[in-house]
Amino acid sequence: MARITASVYTSHVPAIGAALDLGKTQEPYWQPVFQGYEFGKQWMKDNKPDVVFLVYNDHATAFSLEMIPTFAIGTAAEFQPADEGWGPRPVPKVIGHPDLASHIAQSVIQQDFDLTIVNKMDVDHGLTVPLSLMCGQPEAWPCPVIPFAVNVVQYPVPSGRRCYNLGQAIRKAVESFDEDLNVHIWGTGGMSHQLQGPRAGLINKDFDNAFLDKLINDPEAAASIPHIDYVREAGSEGIELVMWLIARGAMADVAGGAKPKVAQRFYHVPASNTAVGHLILENS
Ligand code: DHB
Ligand code: FE
Repeated sequence: MARITASVYTSHVPAIGAALDLGKTQEPYWQPVFQGYEFGKQWMKDNKPDVVFLVYNDHATAFSLEMIPTFAIGTAAEFQPADEGWGPRPVPKVIGHPDLASHIAQSVIQQDFDLTIVNKMDVDHGLTVPLSLMCGQPEAWPCPVIPFAVNVVQYPVPSGRRCYNLGQAIRKAVESFDEDLNVHIWGTGGMSHQLQGPRAGLINKDFDNAFLDKLINDPEAAASIPHIDYVREAGSEGIELVMWLIARGAMADVAGGAKPKVAQRFYHVPASNTAVGHLILENS
């Protein structure tokens, strides 16, 4: 049977990808950001998963105002890095896991979450920057990745509670897959940031750190945060944080198991316009 053994949480920022691709990681501005991921890169090598289920958001790259799936699962054999205006990032293509992805689609849809099934999609910085932060610059990503895109760009967006419940359904789906697979689930995006309007540049360290505390120790309370609080407290793009609740909902303690171990916690401001947060939680 397949098992979710750990969850990883990290912000994404396109400028982080550019800093890495252009060899700027040791510049004073970027060095502390990348330093915060040294532990995670080693941890990935020491705890190599068979598959990463990567929850992220597309930024009007694969989708647009023409088509807005709330939850979309990538079932293809591979996914190309997207061209977001400067050419595709020079990173490996993403190899999918069609068998596990189709099984999760079947199981989660039968648990009453209506997923969109995507057989062709390019993946933008929302997916490739977290992979770069956790894996560095390899020739190929260390394992297959199932992209799971959440609409947090065009209103209406799903609530944190819905995301948390969906995470629980994903855990059940993974555990009903016959093959022995070690699966990690990643929740990405956030933390506080606002890219537009009079409050552009907003960062809220108190909210972010309280969110990290809640996510670790009281995920029910984190799942209860209403949509408007994210927008007020963490800025219009801070709503990306609801994706972290999908990964957290898939952890064992939510289903009555033991509390996860906190292997890594990191927080840094600034990276571009965003507060960078990063956690690694391990199931025991
Ligand atoms: C930035 C952050 C994002 O989440 C994003 O999608 C684009 C830009 C930024 O901080 O610049
Ligand atoms: Fe974003």
